[in-house]
Amino acid sequence: MQTLADSPTRHLVLGITGGIAAYKCAELVRLWVRAGHTVDVVMTEAALAFVGAATFQALSGRPVRSSLWNSAERNGMDHIALSRNVDALIVAPASADFIGKLTYGLADDLLSTLCLARDCPLLVAPAMNRQMWQNPATQRNVAQLRADGVTILGPDSGEQACGETGEGRMLEPHEIAERVAAYLQPKPLAGLRVLLTAGPTLEPIDPVRAITNRSSGQMGYAVAAAARDAGAEVTLISGPTALDAPWDVERVNVETAAQMQAAVETRVTGCDIFIGVAAVADYRVVAPSGSKIKKSEASMSLELAANPDILASVAARPNPPFCVGFAAESEHLLEHAELKRRRKTLPLMVANLAQDSIGRSDSQITLLDDHGVHPLPLASKTQSARWLVDHIASLYHARGSSR
Ligand code: C5P
Repeated sequence: MQTLADSPTRHLVLGITGGIAAYKCAELVRLWVRAGHTVDVVMTEAALAFVGAATFQALSGRPVRSSLWNSAERNGMDHIALSRNVDALIVAPASADFIGKLTYGLADDLLSTLCLARDCPLLVAPAMNRQMWQNPATQRNVAQLRADGVTILGPDSGEQACGETGEGRMLEPHEIAERVAAYLQPKPLAGLRVLLTAGPTLEPIDPVRAITNRSSGQMGYAVAAAARDAGAEVTLISGPTALDAPWDVERVNVETAAQMQAAVETRVTGCDIFIGVAAVADYRVVAPSGSKIKKSEASMSLELAANPDILASVAARPNPPFCVGFAAESEHLLEHAELKRRRKTLPLMVANLAQDSIGRSDSQITLLDDHGVHPLPLASKTQSARWLVDHIASLYHARGSSR
């Protein structure tokens, strides 16, 4: 969902070690270059046994380096110069052997020396057979790297090149690109807990029929991902959607408004920020039928009861988290949104026109807070969510300091 085009341009160094997943890095370099990033590729000797340097040279448009010894370019100082003034050094795929070398600070080729002499963050995407990954030696090494401040990306589970199935696959190129972009985002919500609702709710009429709202969940999921990228610990209470759970976000699946409210109530204590993005059905059927209602020619009526307002009840708690609401309106957008903000006593309301937002991947949102109205440009939901999270962070911290 996150589009790389939404990231600022970066200077990255990609270290490729010996593993069959090395071929996937051609796609990774292409994604980064397409997003406007500058990529220097460094390959180990083992990596060159799997893929040729020419591929990476062509894709990155820059020389590929592999040796400590034949570089005249920077007075033979590639192992130092290559990590200076870059945003991150990413090793993908990182073999078990290379992870071992990193752990012990060995430096016997260009890439390992570069990692040891680096002056930038190091992110490592392991790729190996499942037994090699599970081996206590590898697990010890990875734990040590984490303790040393190295970020481990993945690995994934699934079918492996050796024919076995299990944990140890390298993340797909787009996932590595997404996680590197996320890593490099500023972290204004570090140490904070964010609880969100997203998607529609589904109120049963009988076992096969339901009342629901039109909501794909895209905006809520984008806000969850943006809050995670901003450093928050995120829990997402989601109504039924077709979306995958964002990585590193705890997702709790619910169907009805009552279930959504119960899930929120059990998790809201101790959360710092609550964001209600869900399109909660306003009504539920008072007595849903336990069996399928038979079709007949006669008209029928359903008795409906109002659902609880989850957001308003969170905002009315004695010591509420910082509460944010969403108002999707079809007309008089700002008036209705501001009225809702006041009625629900929220410091921040996000307004958008329902017809311009539902089911689309872009949105034009307007933020309403105690300082006034802040319209934002039309953008992808990923970008809108990032702007929203930045705004939430600045209001949250300003509130903290004025207390
Ligand atoms: O439905 P309404 O326009 O009032 O929704 C505004 C905000 O209130 C949204 O953030 C929505 O998630 C939240 N809401 C809620 N529980 C409801 C209705 C709305 O949390 N029953």
